[in-house]
Amino acid sequence: MSQNPGAAAGILRRTVAALPPHRGPQIEEDFKSTAGGLRRMSLNESAEPPSPKVAAAVAAAVTNVNRYPDPKARALAAAISDRTEIPVERIVFGNGSHELIMLMGTAYMEAGSRIVVPNPSFQPYQTAARIAGAELTIVPVDADGANDVDAMLAACWPAPRMVIAATPNNPTGALLSQAALEKLIAGVPAETLLVVDEAYFEFGRLAGGPDVLKALKARKGPWLVLRTFSKAYNLAGLRVGYALASHEELIEGINRVRGVFNVNRLAQAAALAALSDEPYAKASQKRTAAERDRLAVGLKAMGLSPMPSAANFVCVKTPKPASEVVPALAGKGIMIVPVGGPPYENHIRITLGTPEDTDAVLAALKQVI
Ligand SMILES: Cc1ncc(COP(=O)(O)O)c(C=O)c1O
Repeated sequence: MSQNPGAAAGILRRTVAALPPHRGPQIEEDFKSTAGGLRRMSLNESAEPPSPKVAAAVAAAVTNVNRYPDPKARALAAAISDRTEIPVERIVFGNGSHELIMLMGTAYMEAGSRIVVPNPSFQPYQTAARIAGAELTIVPVDADGANDVDAMLAACWPAPRMVIAATPNNPTGALLSQAALEKLIAGVPAETLLVVDEAYFEFGRLAGGPDVLKALKARKGPWLVLRTFSKAYNLAGLRVGYALASHEELIEGINRVRGVFNVNRLAQAAALAALSDEPYAKASQKRTAAERDRLAVGLKAMGLSPMPSAANFVCVKTPKPASEVVPALAGKGIMIVPVGGPPYENHIRITLGTPEDTDAVLAALKQVI
């Protein structure tokens, strides 16, 4: 408890005071029922450990943690540049791509600017805009859970400061088709920053999704792509995300507002090692995709209709409200999350895990619904 409740009222920035109360993601420690352990299928992370090369690289890097890390993550930037053909001057790293979203808010958004976002989608887009005092235009996703490009483009007049798209989208899992992507890129006004969040990029490509970066290279106006090592490279605990931008000025904006040493030494070494072991990452991604397909088959056998997912999670509507299903599953040792907000009161999101996790969530869900 505060020492003197109420004494700090009025200290918070006005836009921060207006935000909903902070809850944050729940982890095992937040649950009382731990009988038999908990399966964490709630945070869209990987259930598999990182490559052994990551462990070796982190062990080697730890001997130097008395020194601050490279503020530009030069070695990592060069490796990403090699793979994307984006010059290092147009790449910046964050403490997870979540941090980059918040930094985008500080660098690019302000009162009087308007930001177009899909919904439901990754909530920090809205949080960053609200903190900046920007105006939000929230565009519902389509029936399959994909960003509704026609509706987003209809919201682009007058030209907004920024349009944020996510493919695959979280929490629904759907990809943008090649045609929808091209329409978005051509239709977003040239003076608007088009951000494409590709946190699940590697899974999306594995599922046959479009090459977003290639399509964006044809765009005249500014663009930014967000990616992360948290999902397909099994490094969520080390927090490394990156942005690829059309123009150096966009990276300069982020650099002016970020903490100079925001990505630590161990994280940089780990990300570089993870990239160097592509066969390991690919095999891990394929196992996850196989569980996604198995989970979808199991859900369909139960009479449910999972949304088409190209990511490491599956979204599904259940006959009961998620506010009942989520705690009931937690009681059975399985952590998942509700989607929430109309019309998604009955939708849940299940992060994929091991084959045993898939079997366990299907068995528990069968009992609960
Ligand atoms: C769409 C999307 N973007 C960004 C992130 C942030 O990932 P991280 O901060 O771990 O890079 C997530 C995490 O779940 C996400 O789903």
